[in-house]
Amino acid sequence: MSTSEKKLTDKKIGVIGVGTIGGTLVETLIRNGVVSPDQFIGSTSQKETAKEVSEKYHIEATADNERVVEETDIVILAVEPKTIEGVLDETSSNFRPDHLVISVAAGITTKFIESKIDKQVPVVRTMPNTAIRVKNGATVMVAGKHAVESDLRVTEQIFKPVGIVEEVRDESLMDPITGFSGSGPAYGYLIIESLIEAGVRVGLPRDRATNLAAQSLLGAAKMVLETGEHPAKLKDMVTTPAGVTVDAVMKLEEGGIRVAFFNAIEEAARKSERLKLDSE
Ligand SMILES: NC(=O)c1ccc[n+]([C@@H]2O[C@H](COP(=O)([O-])OP(=O)(O)OC[C@H]3O[C@@H](n4cnc5c(N)ncnc54)[C@H](OP(=O)(O)O)[C@@H]3O)[C@@H](O)[C@H]2O)c1
Repeated sequence: MSTSEKKLTDKKIGVIGVGTIGGTLVETLIRNGVVSPDQFIGSTSQKETAKEVSEKYHIEATADNERVVEETDIVILAVEPKTIEGVLDETSSNFRPDHLVISVAAGITTKFIESKIDKQVPVVRTMPNTAIRVKNGATVMVAGKHAVESDLRVTEQIFKPVGIVEEVRDESLMDPITGFSGSGPAYGYLIIESLIEAGVRVGLPRDRATNLAAQSLLGAAKMVLETGEHPAKLKDMVTTPAGVTVDAVMKLEEGGIRVAFFNAIEEAARKSERLKLDSE
């Protein structure tokens, strides 16, 4: 039976790099009963941090990446992009064709990973975001050359319990996606932070401003996702003629909010492209 045909509960999952995103994934999957702690083996660069990881998440953890690959069926690559090449050089010969490699690393192409591994191992490249912690992540995935439909479904089984999962066929889209939804929570926090400061400025207590700002954005996001209406139409519903909201919207437009987002996402996509590691 190939790795992909088995249920997730039958699999040993290696997480190379149990840092911010790797740790969030481990913690959330365990907390929600998707994966049990004894299915995971995590690794970090140092024995000391491996011990911390083991104590924090109650999983086996090591600084030995070769062991992680050898003893698992699915290997999640969650180290920084600059570390990926070294990790793959170190573990290349430990992979089996029935492994599934899932990468969350920004800018690392499936072609690059495939070129570094001795065998023809299926690779799925993903771009999740940190909101997986509260089961509202947005993950995009793309299949590498040797990955088949069932590999994508296994990847979906990992990321779907912690948010939405979208699939793209064109891997070049992963660069803009990295700076779009991968970095997305940061843009949301910036808006919430700005709203809180603005609320405090007009006299709201900070804690109340925080709750109201975050809940307003959560509500707006849910309205877009659940009604399927265009955001402009939903905005029109809040903007009474000659009312309060339209004046505020005018000030935001005056401040160049749309152009600021165009520029920000364009810059993030460019940076992502610059970080790219391909096999050519
Ligand atoms: N953070 C995000 O919002 C986000 C979103 C989507 C994708 N990503 C991607 O996720 C990856 C990790 O990012 P992060 O923010 O989670 O980074 P991070 O917090 O710095 O975590 C990196 C982890 O990798 C470990 N590590 C470093 N060198 C290693 C090695 N040679 N072998 C095994 N483990 C090693 C580190 O262990 P030590 O502590 O011992 O050094 C640490 O646990 C990146 O490729 C990034 O592009 C991040």
